[in-house]
Amino acid sequence: MKGLILSGGKGTRLRPFTFTRAKQLLPIANKPNLYYVVEDIVSAGIDSIGVIVNPETGGEIKAALGDGSRWGAEFTFIPQQEPRGLAHAVKTARRFLGDEPFVMYLGDNLLSGGIREFVEDYRAGRCDALILLTPVDNPQQFGVAVLDEAGAVRRLVEKPTDPPSNLALVGVYVFSPAVHEAIATLAPSRRGEYEITDAVQAMVDGGRRIEARLVHGWWKDTGRTEDLLDANRLVLSRLARDIRGRVETSDLVGEVVVEEGASILASVVRGPVHIAAGAVVDRSYIGPYTSVGPNARIVQSEVEYSILFADAEVRNLPHRLDSSVIGQGAVARGAGGGLRKHVARLVLGDISHVEI
Ligand code: TTP
Repeated sequence: MKGLILSGGKGTRLRPFTFTRAKQLLPIANKPNLYYVVEDIVSAGIDSIGVIVNPETGGEIKAALGDGSRWGAEFTFIPQQEPRGLAHAVKTARRFLGDEPFVMYLGDNLLSGGIREFVEDYRAGRCDALILLTPVDNPQQFGVAVLDEAGAVRRLVEKPTDPPSNLALVGVYVFSPAVHEAIATLAPSRRGEYEITDAVQAMVDGGRRIEARLVHGWWKDTGRTEDLLDANRLVLSRLARDIRGRVETSDLVGEVVVEEGASILASVVRGPVHIAAGAVVDRSYIGPYTSVGPNARIVQSEVEYSILFADAEVRNLPHRLDSSVIGQGAVARGAGGGLRKHVARLVLGDISHVEI
């Protein structure tokens, strides 16, 4: 079996961050989203992995993944000239996939329980595709599945106005090579993309057996800034305390990671919090569900439920920062004046500067 990671796309909903980087490389608890995806695929016993990339961000994706040896995997990078849909990405990878079954994993998705069990289920069974589902409160915003009594997939609907179920499609699929015939019959959808939901529906209509499984634990699609913060929270919630950096006259409460080379000075850090190598926290308060990137600096400020990318700086802020994402090398500084009571929310793109 092979793996196929979709790491192209436009990432428009994650601007400004995707102006300067691939969304699949955005850090979740100080590790690129894509690394979690690779780990899940490798843990399922798959080591030949195709990676769909686009012309803009392909270079940085290749640089971040390397040749795969650090995971014991082998990557084949497959350029997709235009993001014409998930089914189009599979078509683009046709030669790499050959006639083997494969797991397709969207590069901006995260699953708490991994995919091993689902891949084993597929291998043990006789279905033509296995899809993953999870109940959601807002099925209008997802691809939604309708199952029969035996649990086989009857129908899939993309972003229904009148949802026939609350079971949303998660961005992981296991396909037999039969999917390629289905994709060959597709026309673009109303939004002009070749939809994977249409391909699965074509398989159902052609009499193929498609099974569904519910994911255990959480699933996250890091499509928007709020999702990034939520994914960060979910990953941090399984953090285990590990203090390796320098800590002076500070109070570190609960599940806090301070990597080697980081410094915490005269501060309070209340976990779960991940502080990367080279970061400095000085006379500050860091609250739960915060990630502080490599060489970032937080000085005389309060930050909670936020992400600071590498080299970001927060200094003398008059408000507590909450639900904020501070891009790589971006700087937020206080213009003077003491701490005011209210909370501020900032979303700052890479290398931006702001004074508040
Ligand atoms: P999406 O989040 O659906 O699309 P997008 O990345 O273009 O984002 P936005 O809607 O904010 O503009 O894509 C899901 C994943 O699949 C993501 O990792 C990008 C990837 N992808 C491709 O590789 N090729 C494609 O043609 C498309 C549409 C997405």
